[in-house]
Amino acid sequence: MPHSDFARKIAITGGAGFIGSNLLQHMVRKYPDCLFVNIDCLTYAGNLSNLVGLEQAGNYRFEKIDIRDNQALAACFEKYQFDALIHLAAESHVDRSITGPADFIETNIGGTFNLLEIIRRTTQDGSSFRLHHISTDEVFGSLGPKGYFTEKSAYRPNSPYSASKAASDLLVRSYHKTYGLDVVTTNCSNNYGPYQFPEKLIPLIINNARNGKPLPVYGDGKQIRDWLFVTDHCEAIDLVFHKGIAGETYCIGGHNEMENISIVRLICKLLTQRLGCQPLDRLIQFVTDRPGHDRRYAIDASYIKSQLGWEPRFTFETGIKMTLDWYLENQAWLENCVSGEYRKYYETTYSNR
Ligand code: NAD
Ligand code: DAU
Repeated sequence: MPHSDFARKIAITGGAGFIGSNLLQHMVRKYPDCLFVNIDCLTYAGNLSNLVGLEQAGNYRFEKIDIRDNQALAACFEKYQFDALIHLAAESHVDRSITGPADFIETNIGGTFNLLEIIRRTTQDGSSFRLHHISTDEVFGSLGPKGYFTEKSAYRPNSPYSASKAASDLLVRSYHKTYGLDVVTTNCSNNYGPYQFPEKLIPLIINNARNGKPLPVYGDGKQIRDWLFVTDHCEAIDLVFHKGIAGETYCIGGHNEMENISIVRLICKLLTQRLGCQPLDRLIQFVTDRPGHDRRYAIDASYIKSQLGWEPRFTFETGIKMTLDWYLENQAWLENCVSGEYRKYYETTYSNR
């Protein structure tokens, strides 16, 4: 079907990553009258095999473009005449931002700026183009033992990653205030679930444990994160994208605070039962803490609940079992990620098109 025949033409940046691929699996099937164009440059974190099954969907396209490349982006916007963008593309891993911040500044700030400028320049009236900017609770910094992040919390980012996301949030805000762009921003807590690159805590622990490798726990392991199953995040994005009020921000969280060490011990317990092996918690190793490590994140998600009726569906107990099942059933996916073999999927499936 020609692009012009779709009811809406929606660009999704970062659609080959963890959350982006789960979001595309959700949206492409749910909205067959909309065209979804995945704009992703396939960094180490971009894996097109996360999107298996969508290649043949009539309302899905892939464009291998770096959001730092202004000309390529402009040509893509010209080609599809988008009327909306859900912006997820980012360098996302805090540890990498500590060892090499430059890519985070260039992609998360520079890439977001490029997108904002293209929307501003190519739409007659900014308010006819919806931009949903996907951000993180890390922009708010660290909580003490009490209290929650809300839409009113001050920005106090502590890592180059969170500082770059904070800068991008503020740029997006400024384009609403100054140029009237129709923007919504969501700040979400830690996601977990299928297709998460095994550098993040949960898939890293699953992968190392099943291979009998050490399980690194930073510092005392008592840092707290608020975990949300990724499909719950995707449903929240769907709601905010369609019904959120222009200029508003929405905090999204799982009402599920856990210490890192409790998560690691739980994964060890569940995997030990599944694999029928020696207790895997013997592999836990406390290692040097992450510099600037935020102690606690927790979201008060009452605004999105009262305004849009969103609540997480999955308890952590259910979500972590589904996640473990998925990684055990998809060990080839894990092996491919760790070995870098997943890159061949692009070469064989897409590059000849
Ligand atoms: P991810 O690292 O798994 O995926 C990022 C994707 O962006 C990859 O496909 C990568 O190839 C692409 N990308 C990176 N740089 C690019 C560039 N210059 N041009 C085009 N594509 C590029 O990340 P994720 O965990 O799926 O996170 C997605 C978004 O959600 C990010 O903006 C992140 O800040 C935000 N977020 C993540 C979490 C979480 O727990 N993972 C929580 C809250 C918010
Ligand atoms: O809060 C949302 C953020 O969650 C997102 O914005 C980020 O993109 C995402 O990466 C995530 O950031 P975290 O730093 O919280 O996630 P990570 O999985 O890297 O670490 C989770 C916690 O576990 C954190 O306190 C650090 C700790 N950790 C992590 C790793 C990789 C360990 O103790 N050992 C590890 O090996």
